[in-house]
Amino acid sequence: MQKHSTLGEFIIGHQKQFKYSSGELSRLINSIRLAAKVVNHEVNKAGLVDILGDAGDTNVQGEDQQKLDVYANDIFMETLRNRQIVCGIASEEEDDFVTISGHDGSNTNKYVVLIDPLDGSSNIDVNVSVGTIFSIYRRVTEPGKPVQKEDFLQEGNKQVAAGYIVYGTSTMLVYTTGHGVNGFTLNPAIGTFYLSHPNMKFPEDGPIYSINEGNYVHFPQGVKDYLKYCQMEEGDRPYTARYIGSLVSDFHRNMIKGGIYIYPTSSKSPQGKLRLLYECNPIAFIAEQAGGFASDGYQRILDIKPTELHQRVPIFCGSKNMVAKAEEFMRKYPQDAYYAKQK
Ligand code: AHG
Ligand code: MN
Ligand code: MN
Repeated sequence: MQKHSTLGEFIIGHQKQFKYSSGELSRLINSIRLAAKVVNHEVNKAGLVDILGDAGDTNVQGEDQQKLDVYANDIFMETLRNRQIVCGIASEEEDDFVTISGHDGSNTNKYVVLIDPLDGSSNIDVNVSVGTIFSIYRRVTEPGKPVQKEDFLQEGNKQVAAGYIVYGTSTMLVYTTGHGVNGFTLNPAIGTFYLSHPNMKFPEDGPIYSINEGNYVHFPQGVKDYLKYCQMEEGDRPYTARYIGSLVSDFHRNMIKGGIYIYPTSSKSPQGKLRLLYECNPIAFIAEQAGGFASDGYQRILDIKPTELHQRVPIFCGSKNMVAKAEEFMRKYPQDAYYAKQK
């Protein structure tokens, strides 16, 4: 596929990579592409219209919802629902998963989508990049019947596709279907995504560490020791600290430049903060497809068996040698309550 192909051409050109493909997954990714453009339009004018600030509501996890969170959630939900291309959707902004059925109540679609419609939402008011993260699985229950919770509670290693959109200095859609990672940049003048970053690869080592270091006193000892290691003068260290506070943007930068992103357990967030299904699994799948790795400190994120839709986990993600080093520090100490629960 030549470098300047559009996302639409790329999707069609790669459809035959999927055995027995009926084009359903391609249509699904096309719908996400469409919703991304609509959300992008709204994000870009966020400073101009009365869309900033809290919607006055809190989501199921007790966090303040921003208006754009609600808007992005509605756009992705509606786009997928109206086009009847999935049988169920779970969103970080919804209390429970949503079953999609046709006019006659039936739905023979194979896929479910899990989504963080707006990631990094606390950055909206200050003109800093935000994102969307999506994850796609084949349902495990019988097609034609309403979806069940188990269709969503699948291990990350079962993902069929995953991706993110970063609404940044330019807007990019980056995704994988398990055959490497490709990045597309939106040309806003004509509303078309072009292949700008073919076959993205995580450098094996990197110069960057990304963590909310303000929480240092609350971190497990293994993380504290690893941070001191990052800051030590030796070889290619000290590393550079970069933390935007938008997982998508921090991850995207690290994938290009090389680095590690950490959101550990802490005495403030004993389970970690990020959500396994909407954030960690899709990001881990993309990381591995780009030659990186994602761990909860002791085990592969993609092998964690989910138990709840809104489950949180700690994450260490990025350049594979850096993640391995961080795990080495974690293993020196007994596992805390989160890890004990995993066993
Ligand atoms: P969301 O906006 O979807 O709730 O996600 C915010 C997440 C993630 O994007 C970011 O990396 C992290 O929260 C930042 O958390 P801290 O402010 O605790 O560092
Ligand atoms: Mn998020
Ligand atoms: Mn969110």
